[in-house]
Amino acid sequence: MKKFALMILITFGFGQTFAQNLQMPDTLKATMKIMGDDMKKLIAQSNKAELNSESTATAEELVRLIENAKRFNPEVGDKAEYLKAMEKTKALATQLVDAFKENKNNQATDILKALSGSKREGHSNFKD
Ligand code: HEM
Repeated sequence: MKKFALMILITFGFGQTFAQNLQMPDTLKATMKIMGDDMKKLIAQSNKAELNSESTATAEELVRLIENAKRFNPEVGDKAEYLKAMEKTKALATQLVDAFKENKNNQATDILKALSGSKREGHSNFKD
């Protein structure tokens, strides 16, 4: 019985990861392009509390895109350092999800500024 439960868990677990990856872009460039679009949207609406549930969903997509970006190699720089930078960026995006969920819009605005910093730093270290 325990084995059966474990099998169900594994099947659904993989199924979900697989389904999410299927919807994700296949190149770093395409991944970053959508990240850029999502960030623009979130910056524009970060102080609009009435849009917080939509912002939460967009921030959740941002987290998935950052996770997806880890599958690729950077244009320049060390892969291990690149992965560390992505993990930091992902942690910020995860905090952003929580801020929107909890209607903490001032906090969301601050986190978006930190994310813009990660972007600047990431691009200066890993982009041609
Ligand atoms: C929220 C944060 C970020 C945003 C919004 C963002 C956005 C973008 C955008 C719009 C592009 C140009 C895509 C195009 O040419 O169409 C790009 C490219 C790139 N980004 Fe980011 N980025 C972010 C964070 C990072 C981080 C943290 C790293 C590295 C650790 C990184 C590494 C790169 C690289 C290597 C490219 C060049 C990809 C290629 O053309 O093959 N980015 N990014």
